[in-house]
Amino acid sequence: MRRRGHFYFRHQVIIHSFPTDLICHNIFKRKKNYVYLVGAFQNEIMNSAKVFFVTKRFYSGVASRVKAQKYVLTKYFQGEPKNTDFKIIEEDLPELKDGEILTEAEYISVDPYMRAYMVGYKLPVDMIGGQVAKIIASRNETYPVGKYVTGSFGWRSHTICNPENLKGKPGFSPFTLLPDLTPHPVSLALGILGMPGNTAYFGLKEICKPKPGETIVITGAAGAVGSHVGQIGKNLGCRVIGFAGSDEKCKYLEKELGFDRAFNYKTTDIRSALREGAPKRVDCYFDNVGGEISSTIMSYMNKYGRVAVCGSISSYNDPQPPKVTILQPAIVFKELKVEGFLVDRWINRWEEGVKANLDWLHDGKLKYQEKIYEGFDNMVEALVGMLRGENTGKAVVKVK
Ligand SMILES: NC(=O)c1ccc[n+]([C@@H]2O[C@H](COP(=O)([O-])OP(=O)(O)OC[C@H]3O[C@@H](n4cnc5c(N)ncnc54)[C@H](OP(=O)(O)O)[C@@H]3O)[C@@H](O)[C@H]2O)c1
Repeated sequence: MRRRGHFYFRHQVIIHSFPTDLICHNIFKRKKNYVYLVGAFQNEIMNSAKVFFVTKRFYSGVASRVKAQKYVLTKYFQGEPKNTDFKIIEEDLPELKDGEILTEAEYISVDPYMRAYMVGYKLPVDMIGGQVAKIIASRNETYPVGKYVTGSFGWRSHTICNPENLKGKPGFSPFTLLPDLTPHPVSLALGILGMPGNTAYFGLKEICKPKPGETIVITGAAGAVGSHVGQIGKNLGCRVIGFAGSDEKCKYLEKELGFDRAFNYKTTDIRSALREGAPKRVDCYFDNVGGEISSTIMSYMNKYGRVAVCGSISSYNDPQPPKVTILQPAIVFKELKVEGFLVDRWINRWEEGVKANLDWLHDGKLKYQEKIYEGFDNMVEALVGMLRGENTGKAVVKVK
């Protein structure tokens, strides 16, 4: 491939036979079994070489013509995130270098960690997060135009990256080239087939280690991680009890996802709910929310119970961390194992989790719902909506 004036273009051809003088003049560039033609010599070559298959790939100055839009956080969140905490700015993208791809965001994730983590960054800072993006220009044969990837690109419309520098690295949404997910939407790579799905898979299996017949309790049960944990629990032969924030969500968990019982934590006495839903008490607790409900559940566990501490969303918007009932007596007398985790721990087994979840999806043993917000301008509304509990299943923003 060669630059010609302000543009260049490349044809991918399979050549049956061709004159060697053209090779000598370096008009052909050979790479593996492909031969690239330099644009200006195209006609000469087409006349003198026997070409039996040609596909055109054009990506001249695409990147340099694209302006990316991105959210920059300029104020730390106080309470709920606000539009005024951000500036949306435009960024000129450089031309692609060898090995790089240019992607365009289709779905951007909104996740609870966004509310919790930003306090750790020096401002101003580009907003963090995962997205599913389409490759719209490529100088990397493994990542052709038209394919989809996930990456921790943040809240931005276009991104240039070199996949070789990202593969296997931890991140909010580890870099992955998506397989064909038809008939399912590519947004699942931000949900059951992505980071939340692997959080559910590894968090439950590796930390709670549930055995068939045991009782699992899940808080935040109707969200992306919680609704997934409950279904894996049922697939593993356990009794599954969920706590979620509305009667409608609880109905969905019982009727659609097969939870044994689900309770509205806003209107139910938690102890009574546990006595009713978990008559043999609790062996595994998957904690998504923290706070007083977690203290109550942990005091209702069986000896040698296991607690996977996944998150504490009940306090993310609170300026003061809440004070809750002491946990140590329950931990000591019931000899509980309580372990926090970050899903990155299993980055080297990432594909195992995605594959297991994909197999369950294909077998009809894993269902999903998405709350889809529309438009790049509505990222903050989506984040706030998710934190308020508007979502059942995974919350994502469709930007394209
Ligand atoms: N450790 C890790 O690696 C890891 C990875 C991913 C996620 N997480 C954590 O897992 C948890 C769930 O994440 P997700 O992505 O699946 O989010 P999600 O559950 O899809 O969405 C957040 C949900 O939190 C609930 N919520 C909001 N305020 C609450 C409160 N005061 N008390 C109880 N529930 C409240 C809302 O549902 P309701 O209507 O039920 O209130 C809301 O739908 C979060 O704590 C997150 O930080 C951890």
